[in-house]
Formats: sequence, C-alpha cells, structure tokens
Amino acid sequence: MFKHLHMTLAVISIFLFTLRFIWTLMESKQLSRKWVKITPHVIDTLLFALGVAMAVKLAINPIEQLWLGEKILAVIAYIFTGYFTLKLARNRTMQIIGYLGAMGWILLVVRIAMTKENVLF
Ligand code: HEM
Repeated sequence: MFKHLHMTLAVISIFLFTLRFIWTLMESKQLSRKWVKITPHVIDTLLFALGVAMAVKLAINPIEQLWLGEKILAVIAYIFTGYFTLKLARNRTMQIIGYLGAMGWILLVVRIAMTKENVLF
C-alpha cells in the first residue's frame, strides 16, 4: 500500500511540476494562487517521507545498497533543477533547459526505482 501511494505521489509531483513550468512560460496568474504554492510542497514532502519510511521498513541502507543512495542523490538533483526552472531561470531558454534537465533526473530516478540497479556509481 505504501508503495502504491509513493508511486501515485510521484506521478502527481511530476504533473504539478510540469503544470507550473507551463504556467511559468505563459506568465500565468495561476502561479500566485495559494494552492499552487502550497500543494507541491506537501506532495513532495509526503513522497520523500514515504520513501524514507519504506527504506527503514525494508531495512535498505542507502550506503550499502547503492541504488537507493543514487536514487536519493538523483531526487535532490531533480529538486534543485526544478527550483532553478521555476524560480532562478531568468528567461524562457533557461526555463526550458531547466525543465529538460529536471526531466532527465526524473528518468534516472524512475529507472533506478524500477531496476534497483545503480547507474552512475
Ligand atoms: C521523485 C521522487 C521519486 C520517484 C519518482 C520514485 C519512484 C518510485 C517508484 C516508481 C517505485 C516503485 C518501484 C517498483 O516497481 O518496485 C518506488 C519504490 C521505492 N522508493 Fe521511490 N521514488 C521517489 C523518491 C524516493 C525517495 C526520496 C526514497 C528514499 C529516501 C525512495 C525510496 C523508495 C523505496 C525504498 C521503494 C521500495 C523499493 C522496494 O519495493 O523494494 N523513493 N519509487
């Protein structure tokens, strides 16, 4: 049950990030709505917390099982590139490059989640 909730939250997180990216390109007023500012943080926190809870329950140590360590690093890179895309990028080109970068990290996260094999280390 934990795993399905974790996967559902992951899909919602990627969807909300993509929506905010599109709204950023459009300079939409939707971005200043309260739920748009709060919901993604709640979803991402729950996603992370559930991941940690499963790792503890299954006794998977990210230092011994490198796939989990690498997945956590890739998630941190996704969060950073996401922050860059939505907050720091000053023009459309930078925003698009940031979004593609974030999607690249998400592809790595999903690949590691499914294969449980580390790719980079
Ligand atoms: C954007 C972030 C994340 C995405 C997209 C994601 C995606 C997934 C997916 C698709 C699965 C199911 C894999 C399967 O079919 O067995 C999964 C399982 C899991 N994830 Fe995540 N995850 C994310 C973040 C995290 C984080 C931050 C952690 C830990 C700190 C984590 C720990 C786990 C664990 C322990 C499992 C269960 C593995 C097992 O069943 O043996 N995930 N994740």
